[in-house]
Amino acid sequence: MINVGIVGLGRLGKRHAENLLRRIDGVKLIAAASPVPEERDYATTQLSLPHVVSSLEELLTIESVDAVVLVTPTALHAEQSIAVLEAGKHLFVEKPLALNVEDCEKVEQVFAKTSQVNPKQVAMVGFVRRFDASYVAAKQSIDSNEIGNTFFVRSQTCDKYDANGFFVKFSESSGGLIMDCNVHDIDLVRWFLADSNGKSPKAIGFHATGSHNVHPDLAQFEDVDNAIATIEFEGGKYAHLYASRTFAHGHETSTEIIGDKGKLLIGAGAHLNRVVKSDAGGVSHAVLPDFAERFSEAFVHELQAFADACNGKKQMILSLNDATEATRIGVALTQALRENLKVNKD
Ligand code: NAI
Repeated sequence: MINVGIVGLGRLGKRHAENLLRRIDGVKLIAAASPVPEERDYATTQLSLPHVVSSLEELLTIESVDAVVLVTPTALHAEQSIAVLEAGKHLFVEKPLALNVEDCEKVEQVFAKTSQVNPKQVAMVGFVRRFDASYVAAKQSIDSNEIGNTFFVRSQTCDKYDANGFFVKFSESSGGLIMDCNVHDIDLVRWFLADSNGKSPKAIGFHATGSHNVHPDLAQFEDVDNAIATIEFEGGKYAHLYASRTFAHGHETSTEIIGDKGKLLIGAGAHLNRVVKSDAGGVSHAVLPDFAERFSEAFVHELQAFADACNGKKQMILSLNDATEATRIGVALTQALRENLKVNKD
C-alpha cells in the first residue's frame, strides 16, 4: 500500500482524487495541495483527507507521502516533477510533461539520477489513451500482425464547443490546441507505428495550419480553435492529425490505423452508448459530452497502472522519453502552425 498526495484539484484533479480514493487498489490518498481555498475545502469536507495544504512544497514535507500525482497547469509540470523526484517520491504527472524539449530533458536527467539511488522509483506521464480498452485492443491487434506493417495513422481530438470559451484563457498555459489536445494523438501515433521491438520511428517532417472559426481572440496566444497537422516519419510512415474546440454536437476522439494487410478504426462518431433511437423524428443517439466521459474508465486503469508500478507489481509501459518525444513533435507542429498563421495574415 502506498500513500499518495495529489496536487491540483481543478477540472481533472477532482476526478483523479476521487478515483484514487475509491477505485484504485494498493493506494491510499492521504494528502492534497491546492492554492485555491475552495479546492482545499473540498479536500477536507468531501474527501476527508488528513493532510490538506496549499503548495507542493508543503506536501513534500509530509514524510508518509510515497507518491505524488500532479494535476496542475502544464507550464508548472517540469519544475514540479523535478521537486517530486528529488524528494524521492514516485511521480505521476499529467500530460504534456512540459511545453519545451529542454524542460522534458531536465526531468529525464533528474530521474536518471534519482532512480539510481532508488531503482524502484516510478515516473509516469498521463497519456490516458494507452489505458483505454479500445486503444489497448487496437495495439494488441497490431502487435499480433493482424493488419500487417502499419504506415499511416489518422487521429483526431475534437471537443464539444464550450460557449464560455474557457479554452481561450486556458491557451495561455496549455501550449495551445496542438500541444494540449493532439499531444495525445501524437503519443498514440508513436505507439501504433512502433516496430516489433517497440521502437517508434523518428519524426522528420512537420506541417500544420489552422483557423479561428469561432474565437478570433485566440490570436493573442498565436492559437487556433481548429488545427490540422501532418507528421512524416522516417521509413515512409505518416500521420494526419485534427483537433477542434468547436464541435457543435459532442466530443469525438477517433483514430484510424492503416497497415498493408488491413486497417483499424477506433471510436468513430460521438456515441455516448450503443442505443440508437428511431422514431417519427428520424434516427438519433445520445452524444459524449466531453473527454472525461469518453475516458472515464481509462483514467481508472491509468492510475491503477501507476499504483501497480509503484508497488512493484507491473512494469510501466510508458517512459519519460516517450513524453519528451511527444513534446518534441508537438513543439515542431506548433511552430509550423504559427509560421503558417503569420504567412496567412500577410
Ligand atoms: P484546471 O485549471 O482545472 O486545474 C489546475 C489545478 O492546478 C487547480 O486545481 C489549481 O488550483 C492548481 N494549481 C494552479 N497553480 C498551482 C500551483 N502553483 N501549485 C499547485 N497547484 C496549482 O486544469 P485541468 O483542466 O484540471 O488541467 C490540469 C492538467 O491536466 C493540465 O496539464 C492538462 O493538460 C491536464 N489534462 C489532461 C487531460 C487528459 O485527458 N489526460 C484532460 C484535461 C487536463
